[in-house]
Amino acid sequence: MGRSLGTLETDRLVLRPRRAEEAAIYRQLWLERDQRVPAGRRVDPEGRPTVADIVLQIRATQQDPGPGILAVERKGTGDVIGYCGLIPHGRGSPDEPELAFELLRATQGCGYATEAARAVVAWAREAGYRRLRAGVWDWNTPSRRVLAKLGFLESGRGEPAPGQGVTLLMVRELDEFAS
Ligand SMILES: CC(C)(COP(=O)(O)OP(=O)(O)OC[C@H]1O[C@@H](n2cnc3c(N)ncnc32)[C@H](O)[C@@H]1OP(=O)(O)O)[C@@H](O)C(=O)NCCC(=O)NCCS
Repeated sequence: MGRSLGTLETDRLVLRPRRAEEAAIYRQLWLERDQRVPAGRRVDPEGRPTVADIVLQIRATQQDPGPGILAVERKGTGDVIGYCGLIPHGRGSPDEPELAFELLRATQGCGYATEAARAVVAWAREAGYRRLRAGVWDWNTPSRRVLAKLGFLESGRGEPAPGQGVTLLMVRELDEFAS
C-alpha cells in the first residue's frame, strides 16, 4: 500500500505530482473556500498560509509514503485547476485512505472533479485498496453529488460541528464484487 499515485491520464486531464511553483494556485483554493469551512482550513487574517508556506508544505509531502495528492492539469490548456488524490484518513486504517479533491471555482461545473476522481478510484482498486472513505459537509451538494457518481455510499455516520454543519462519512467499497 506504499505506492504513490504517480501520473494518471483521463480524456481531458493529466494528474501528476504537484510542483512548488504552482503554490499560488493551491493558495487560491484556500481563499475560495466556503465560509462554513473551519477557520483552520481557510486563510487567516494574517494571510497564512502564504504562498511560501504552501511551497514548504508541497516539498515536505513530496517524500511521504503512500498515494498522495496530485495536481489536476487540463490537457488542452496545460493549466492546473486543482488537486485530487488520497490522504490518510484520521481515524481509519491506512488501507482505507480518504479521497480528496478541490478545484478552482472558475473551472467547476464541467465534470472535471468526477473525471479526475474516477481515475484515482480506479487506481486505488488496481493498487489493492479494499475501501475508500470521504468526509463531506452535509451542505456541500456538489461534492456529495461527485461522490455519489463515483459509487460512494453514506455510512450513516456523521460528526456535527456547531455552526458549520455535519461532516458525513461516505464509503466506496472496492473489492472485486463491488461495482
Ligand atoms: C466539489 C467540487 C470538487 C466539484 O467539482 P466539479 O468539477 O464542479 O464537479 P463535477 O462537475 O464533476 O460534478 C458536480 C456535480 O454536482 C452538481 N451540482 C453542483 N452544484 C450543485 C447544486 N448547487 N445543487 C445540486 N447539484 C449541484 C452538478 O450538477 C454535478 O452533477 P451532475 O453531473 O449530476 O450534473 C468543487 O465544487 C469544489 O472544488 N468545491 C470546493 C472544495 C470541495 O468541496 N472539495 C470536496 C471536499 S469533500
